[in-house]
Amino acid sequence: MIEMSNVYKKYSNGITAINGLNIKIDQGEFVYVVGPSGAGKSTFVKMMYREEVPTQGKIQVGKFNLVNMKQKDIPYLRRYVGVVFQDFKLLPRLTIYENVAYAMEVVEKNPKVIQKRVLEVLELVGLKHKVRMFPNELSGGEQQRVAIARAIANMPSILIADEPTGNLDPETAWEIMEVLEEINNQGTTIIMATHNSTIVNRMKHRVLAVENGRIVRDQAEGEYGYES
Ligand SMILES: Nc1ncnc2c1ncn2[C@@H]1O[C@H](COP(=O)(O)OP(=O)(O)O)[C@@H](O)[C@H]1O
Ligand SMILES: [Mg+2]
Repeated sequence: MIEMSNVYKKYSNGITAINGLNIKIDQGEFVYVVGPSGAGKSTFVKMMYREEVPTQGKIQVGKFNLVNMKQKDIPYLRRYVGVVFQDFKLLPRLTIYENVAYAMEVVEKNPKVIQKRVLEVLELVGLKHKVRMFPNELSGGEQQRVAIARAIANMPSILIADEPTGNLDPETAWEIMEVLEEINNQGTTIIMATHNSTIVNRMKHRVLAVENGRIVRDQAEGEYGYES
């Protein structure tokens, strides 16, 4: 359901971030993307939601051909693929409820549907009691849980998380992992770029190791495999 064939990405500054990459990921998988800083992990995942477009090669995500894509289809892709970042990217002037609702208001018109789903996803991440608060009133781990709720509000088939635990202490990182695991158990594909070797080695899933813009290891129930 995600397929990249012979993909290259050269940035305008001349850096080749992805250098001949082939991969297939099935619906419902949980995949860690590991590798040294600068290896191309973020570029790799950004191409899955068309934040970056490859210089060469084919990318299929669900029914979407990400290379020959029409501008009008991009909103549909963004419903199909949710994204979570290291720095949460919540809107500071909106409440927790509004941050999640906003993601739905762009695509869903029925206010009753929105209200029901916002409370449902905030309950899933354990924050239903904080809906009226603002992001700066929450801990980092709570803010990341809001960001996850927002990313899954439109029921995406794929959730991409680029270093989602990068700003969190170890205990809080585990809480985030439990949420991601639960979402994966409900059938959502999870792609997580990470430096967190403890998590990768303890919560076993497929590991893709990226180095110099290529996949150098693809291991079911894999290990992190780098010194940390
Ligand atoms: N927007 C960009 N413009 C130019 N070069 C970039 C850009 N983003 C990343 N790069 C370069 O591409 C390479 C891969 O970066 P990135 O995908 O962010 O790796 P990682 O996430 O593994 O650290 C690095 O050399 C980085 O400097
Ligand atoms: Mg990165």
